[in-house]
Amino acid sequence: MKITIIGTGYVGLTSGTCFAEVGHDVICVDHDQAKIETLLQGKIPIYEPKLADLVKKNVDAGRLNFTTSTKQGVEFGEAIFIAVPTPPQPDGSVDLSFIEKVSREIAACLSPDLGHRVIVDKSTVPVKTGDKVEQTIARYATAGSEFSVASNPEFLREGSAVDDLLNPDRVVFGSNSAQALSILREIYQPFNAPMIETDINSSELIKHAANSFLALKISYINAISAICEKSDANVEEVAKGIGLDHRIGSAFLNAGLGYGGSCFPKDIKAFIAIAEELGQPFDLLKEVERINERQLEQFLDKIKEKLWVLKDKKIALWGLAFKSNTDDVRESIAIKLAKELLAQGASVHAYDPKALETAKKFGGLSGDIHYYNEPYALLEQADALVIATEWQEFTSLDFPKVKQSLRTPLIFDGRNLLDPAMMNNLGFEYVSIGR
Ligand code: UGA
Repeated sequence: MKITIIGTGYVGLTSGTCFAEVGHDVICVDHDQAKIETLLQGKIPIYEPKLADLVKKNVDAGRLNFTTSTKQGVEFGEAIFIAVPTPPQPDGSVDLSFIEKVSREIAACLSPDLGHRVIVDKSTVPVKTGDKVEQTIARYATAGSEFSVASNPEFLREGSAVDDLLNPDRVVFGSNSAQALSILREIYQPFNAPMIETDINSSELIKHAANSFLALKISYINAISAICEKSDANVEEVAKGIGLDHRIGSAFLNAGLGYGGSCFPKDIKAFIAIAEELGQPFDLLKEVERINERQLEQFLDKIKEKLWVLKDKKIALWGLAFKSNTDDVRESIAIKLAKELLAQGASVHAYDPKALETAKKFGGLSGDIHYYNEPYALLEQADALVIATEWQEFTSLDFPKVKQSLRTPLIFDGRNLLDPAMMNNLGFEYVSIGR
């Protein structure tokens, strides 16, 4: 199949590359000239495991190409995927202006001679956006142009995007056009995954429902962690005990500082706004958000309880990314934590294996913040070490050396990465979440 992807962010670039990897011919379109030039040189603008090699392999094989021209993209692909940002507005609802703009741009390139085009929305959008896309394209396209519209939400996680795309649990697509469904079936046939074919509204809703449910699981275990702390129980034992019931499942039951990133915080807010607009308020999700916010507040309280006054304290911070295996700091709880510590007058000395540069550029941290390229130097005479991102690397560091460097052997582990018994044996005062 010939496929066009409009938007080369995380979702667009990884999807396009994986479509090429399974044998389709792909062109990725982006307005950002510098980004396209970087990609044409076989380099990628983000850190995502396995992606750089896969881009290079498929560019070299001639199956993956990049352009800034929407016209070239629309002429090339029988299926045109939209993968542009759908950021939140101040009231939590979704800003669909990029989707609307791309719909008009595609429409302007359609013509009766081109043949049928299926326009597939991959960005996370409110239910019924497909209708709007269809109306917009119909309004702006030359009369007689043949097209259909479909929804195909993406479930990849940053940090494991390539594996998630090549081996998905399921593929979901929806359309009211039989032709669109048949094209999508053909595109996804090489992935050997269960395919959920449905109507366009259900397909759109599945994405918000899935992300909200996962966020709910995280908030649920975080709420349990607070109860464990009050009752001398251990949240990890509780998570194991409930997770082995296959109706519950053990994934996404890691208690910690809460969820961050470019998806969950925005999607939960969006789903609350969508439900409100439909006249069906979703108070459960408001509580999911509230628990998420409280998780960071309670962690900060624990730090203050031990250190009393934060002003002029030196805090060593491991982790800035919103989760491990990514350089993404959007809505990172680690960054929020650093901001709070700085606001209270602490001096923050931070290390992250991959997110230092993105944190410097996009983290918005200012004042007494210092960045380090390795995990040890920042510990020198620090009053405490705080762990804020679940990088596996942090579990295998030299803790006797860590202890020697710190002014007082105090560790706050916001991701339950380390073993409490081992930390206590090494002589640390060790504070974690719900255990
Ligand atoms: C999430 C979903 O998992 C994807 O399926 C979806 O495609 C994506 O959003 C999206 O909408 O684009 P992602 O944001 O990349 O993926 O990251 P997750 O692995 O889901 O983690 C989100 C946050 O939850 C992170 O801050 C992580 O630290 C936190 N988390 C995750 C926990 O606190 N506990 C857990 O048990 C799991």
